Amino acid sequence: MKIFLDTANLESIRKYNDMGLLDGITTNPSLMSKEGGNPKDAMEEITKIIKGDVSLEVVSTDYSGMIEEGKRLREYGTNVVVKVPMTPDGLKACKSLSSEGIPVNVTLIFSPNQALLAAKSGAKYVSPFIGRLDDVGQDGMNLIREINEIFENYDFGTEILVASIRHPLHVVDAAKIGADVVTLPPAVLEKMLHHPLTTIGLENFLKDWDKLKSGNPDIKI
Ligand code: G3P
Repeated sequence: MKIFLDTANLESIRKYNDMGLLDGITTNPSLMSKEGGNPKDAMEEITKIIKGDVSLEVVSTDYSGMIEEGKRLREYGTNVVVKVPMTPDGLKACKSLSSEGIPVNVTLIFSPNQALLAAKSGAKYVSPFIGRLDDVGQDGMNLIREINEIFENYDFGTEILVASIRHPLHVVDAAKIGADVVTLPPAVLEKMLHHPLTTIGLENFLKDWDKLKSGNPDIKI
């Protein structure tokens, strides 16, 4: 399973990329707005730091605006994936950009049929938002199960990019289903790194080492 970071925060991107954890990045207008400044600088920097796919989202809602923005976004790097919303114009843009060899991520997917249609339009990724479904009392992870089952029946080549992840258990469940990608807020990835028994275990190892050293201060690893 690939891990993408769902952020435009350069510090977080560098931090987890240095650990070798990141296969890509997803951004959206809200994440850009959260960081402030000129999004162009962030886009330039992110596409330089990350070798894998970087999803950058259009803000136009009409077909020609999306195509124009998509092509401009693609100038930031050959690893740019153009993110378009799951709308009729979005799918039309998805088809055009995909046929020109520009990969597309169709976002704001909330039903299996939307995922099916985005795959038919040639999307490289579909982004189902599971946390937002959980928020309204629906089972977000069930959407991933359904899309996965549908995609296994056919040969679309479209990858399931699980988005709107809220906690580490979402990641475990998505991995068990066999989703292709999870995109994680930095806080969720941070939580996945830690376990209290790891912390206690390390503390005890170091205490015992200090005991050994107190009898012979010249000991070194
Ligand atoms: O990439 C967008 C998606 O992950 C949004 O997440 O937490 O705003 O529902 P959230």
